[in-house]
Amino acid sequence: MEKVLLPEKIIDEGLQLLKGKAEVVILNDITEQAIINEVHDAFAIILRSRAKITRKIIEAAPRLKVISRTGAGYDNIDVEAATQHGVMVCNLPGINSLPVAEHTIALMLALMKQLPKMDSYVRNKQWYKRNELIAEEVAGKTVGIVGFGKIGREVLVRCKALGMNILAYDPYIDKQQFNGDSIRFCDSLDEIFSKADVVTLHVPNIPETRGMVTKQLIYLMKPTAYIINTSRGEVIDQDALVEALKERRIAGAALDVFHKEPLESDDPLLELDNVILTPHVAALTKESGVKMAVEAVKQVIDCLEGRIPKYIVNRRELNLE
Ligand SMILES: NC(=O)c1ccc[n+]([C@@H]2O[C@H](COP(=O)([O-])OP(=O)(O)OC[C@H]3O[C@@H](n4cnc5c(N)ncnc54)[C@H](O)[C@@H]3O)[C@@H](O)[C@H]2O)c1
Repeated sequence: MEKVLLPEKIIDEGLQLLKGKAEVVILNDITEQAIINEVHDAFAIILRSRAKITRKIIEAAPRLKVISRTGAGYDNIDVEAATQHGVMVCNLPGINSLPVAEHTIALMLALMKQLPKMDSYVRNKQWYKRNELIAEEVAGKTVGIVGFGKIGREVLVRCKALGMNILAYDPYIDKQQFNGDSIRFCDSLDEIFSKADVVTLHVPNIPETRGMVTKQLIYLMKPTAYIINTSRGEVIDQDALVEALKERRIAGAALDVFHKEPLESDDPLLELDNVILTPHVAALTKESGVKMAVEAVKQVIDCLEGRIPKYIVNRRELNLE
């Protein structure tokens, strides 16, 4: 039986599918050396998000045919090295779009309804603070969706259902297909940041988007506006955001992703009462956990049984079309 290597364990529903089909080796150790020690006779690697598959690992794996990610992103795989060694890199595009969009909406509602504060009022015997009238209505407010791909579009559907006005910014899509969808596409980031009541970021982490949300853009926002980031921490100038939140130049922020993860224990964000923080969990739900594991395993089983899997990042480079 071929060997399938897992640097981190996946959910049992996924492992069950490999029973009788492969020898499964689970490391629970994501260091490069631990993976190198076990990869020499591996046919496949199933990869979650923490371990990195480097060139050195790929070079130590002459029998490797496929690296299968349990999610959409593959920035933890040296794809160039994989391609050079004829190794397929498989991912699951769009598998997390719905949970990430739902998490974005949860963060938006938590910000506008001031849920963390309300919860603390009750716990701290400050019931009388209910008269502060600090919650806001979402209906009629304007959301600015930056990056109008798979997740951005799921966010759109949910914001529309909430009765929001929609602004979007994405220079790379064909806007014609959204004619009649009551979306206003902005021509610049300046426009969307200055007009929206809630800005939500859904762009990829690429050189062009790193640091895209500058201090200047944050300071263009209305003092009553919120910013939500469930994309990647690198997209925002985090120091400028902290400053703006401290000075109350904007009303608040909700962040699922950060420059450095996990956050350091002395990170200034932890001191602020106008930011909601979640530990990079937007994609992680009971349902998506099972789906991600099962689908990543199925792509490996395709390879084991001689079929070409559906989602191959380096399909063209490997001439698999
Ligand atoms: N928090 C999480 O757990 C989690 C989970 C999944 C994905 N994500 C992140 O969400 C982001 C979006 O994912 P997706 O699946 O919607 O990707 P996608 O590729 O479907 O969409 C991204 C969109 O961004 C647009 N874009 C690219 N550069 C841009 C720019 N400079 N300005 C504006 N728009 C630009 C693209 O044209 C595209 O339409 C990614 O950063 C991904 O890493 C986070």
